[in-house]
Amino acid sequence: MSVKILSITLLLLSIFPAHPGKRRPCCVDVTYMNKSAEVVGETYRQQAARPPCVKAIIFNTGNGGQLCADPKAQWVKDLTANMTKV
Ligand SMILES: *[C@@H]1O[C@H](CO)[C@@H](O)[C@H](O)[C@H]1NC(C)=O
Ligand SMILES: *[C@@H]1O[C@H](CO)[C@@H](O)[C@H](O)[C@H]1NC(C)=O
Repeated sequence: MSVKILSITLLLLSIFPAHPGKRRPCCVDVTYMNKSAEVVGETYRQQAARPPCVKAIIFNTGNGGQLCADPKAQWVKDLTANMTKV
């Protein structure tokens, strides 16, 4: 009896994701072009590939925007070398 309740509970937990809602928009495309002139601030974020999201470095730009950059681009490596990952 209690085993059955337990398995139903586990089933429900596996159906409903642990972290509902609050999905941050993610990068589905990156730029390889040198956009270092647009980057502001001292921090960047790293995004893992999780379709449809792609692996990306996310920089802040002026007026609160964000820039999705290719982690393989040299200018991205140059910039992130001196920035803090958040
Ligand atoms: C990218 O552009 C900046 C200036 O906008 C320049 O200082 C930097 O050297 C460039 N980086 C590469 C890898 O071309
Ligand atoms: C990163 O910081 C070092 C030491 O402060 C400096 O020599 C270098 O030019 C900086 N690189 C970039 C891309 O700003």
